[in-house]
Formats: sequence, C-alpha cells, structure tokens
Amino acid sequence: MSRYSKVAITLHWLMALMIVGNLAGGFLNDYVPKEGGQRALVMGLHMSFGLSIIVLTLVRLGWRLANPPPPLPAYFTSGERVLARASHWSFYAAMLALPLTGWALTNRNDLPLMYFGLFEVPKFGLDTVTARGVGEIHETLGWVMLGLLALHIAAIIKHVVMDRDNLLPRMGVGRNSGPGA
Ligand code: HEM
Ligand code: HEM
Repeated sequence: MSRYSKVAITLHWLMALMIVGNLAGGFLNDYVPKEGGQRALVMGLHMSFGLSIIVLTLVRLGWRLANPPPPLPAYFTSGERVLARASHWSFYAAMLALPLTGWALTNRNDLPLMYFGLFEVPKFGLDTVTARGVGEIHETLGWVMLGLLALHIAAIIKHVVMDRDNLLPRMGVGRNSGPGA
C-alpha cells in the first residue's frame, strides 16, 4: 500500500496540531482574559509556535522535494488531481506566509519578541502603520488557512463516502482496503 514516509507523516500531524492550535489561539484571542497575564501567555505561545512553523515548513519542503510523495490513487480524475495538488501547494504557501506576516506585524509595538522565553528574536524594522496593515493580511490569511482546512477535510470525507476509499492510511492512520490500496 502506498504511504507517505514516516518523516512526512510525523511532520504532517505535528504541524497540523500546531497550526490548528495557532488558528484557535489567534481567532479566540479576544475571549482570553487579559487579567493575570493569560492573554499574554497565549500570545507568547502563539508567536513561538508560529515561528517554529517557519522552520518546520522549510524542513518539510526540503524533505518533500528529496522524497516524492506516493502517487495519487489511479481512480482520481484529472480534476481531482489538479485540486489536490493546488490545495496542497496552497497549504505550503500559507504555512510560510502566515507566520512571516505574524512576525512582521509584531513591529506594531516595541515589546520584545521572545522565543518560548528563551531568547529574543529580532523584528523586521517596519513602522507601526505598515505593521498594522500587515496584521490585516495576517488575519485574512488565517481565514484562507481555515478555508483550506475545511476543503481538505471535506475532500477526505468525500473519498470515504462517495469513492469508498479511505485516504487516511496514506497519512499513517489505520490500514487501507479501498480502491486506492
Ligand atoms: C491545518 C492542518 C493541516 C494541514 C496544514 C495539512 C496539510 C497537508 C498537506 C500539505 C498535505 C499534502 C502532503 C504532500 O503531498 O506534501 C496533506 C495530506 C493529507 N492530509 Fe492534511 N493537513 C492538515 C490537517 C489534516 C487533517 C485534520 C486530516 C484528517 C482529517 C488530514 C489528512 C490528510 C491526508 C489523509 C493526506 C494525504 C492525502 C493523499 O492521499 O495524498 N490533514 N495535508
Ligand atoms: C502558522 C502560524 C500562524 C497562524 C495559523 C496564525 C493565525 C492567527 C490568527 C487566525 C490570528 C487572529 C487574527 C484576527 O482575528 O485578528 C492571529 C493573530 C495574531 N498573530 Fe498569528 N498566526 C501564526 C503565526 C504567528 C507568528 C509567527 C506571530 C508572531 C511572531 C504571530 C502573531 C500574531 C499576533 C501578535 C496576533 C494578534 C493580532 C491582534 O491582536 O489583532 N502569529 N494569528
């Protein structure tokens, strides 16, 4: 059965967890109480995990270029192939653009940007107005990422329900017995 490599599977699930956590931490930020430094803690984690995502995405892209993914199941139509490739590459683009715009928007104030409280990370040197503008792009990209995730999950459900093929084993979850096996 064709599967992604162990490294690709580990990176996929580790990063999915971090990205979903960061989407939640970002969008639900306003609901976290400011008292007792709770919001600052959530944002600190958001920024540190976000910066880690830049490094992990570069590692993952390098790994993917050196280790091509398993071929898509033969029954996929040409439309499905185009959609799968386009959405996967859009994910990679968002996995870089989101944290980079997040990093750039930190120039809206003079607070030091810390990595898990361990060391200070340099900022971009943008002026406050530009940094706020980049913040708008960061938010829009957050919605784009959420949309891609919805499409991604809908595609997996569509394959189970309509094609009787579970794609999850390709990403290391369970055993495959459908037409893609
Ligand atoms: C934000 C979270 C997620 C991101 C960024 C993400 C990203 C990706 C990317 C980029 C690929 C293509 C890998 C490649 O060819 O290089 C992929 C494949 C895959 N993902 Fe996700 N994913 C996420 C969450 C999920 C979730 C929640 C599920 C399960 C419901 C899932 C199931 C899969 C499966 C089964 C594949 C393999 C598709 C195939 O058969 O080729 N992913 N994912
Ligand atoms: C893949 C990684 C990331 C994701 C998915 C993500 C997602 C989000 C989302 C959805 C929001 C809420 C936007 C809004 O409603 O205004 C947000 C806000 C924010 N993000 Fe990120 N982000 C990521 C990385 C980063 C990084 C690396 C930094 C900084 C180093 C950062 C800094 C911020 C800040 C400061 C806010 C709060 C903006 C405000 O108060 O309006 N993010 N992020």
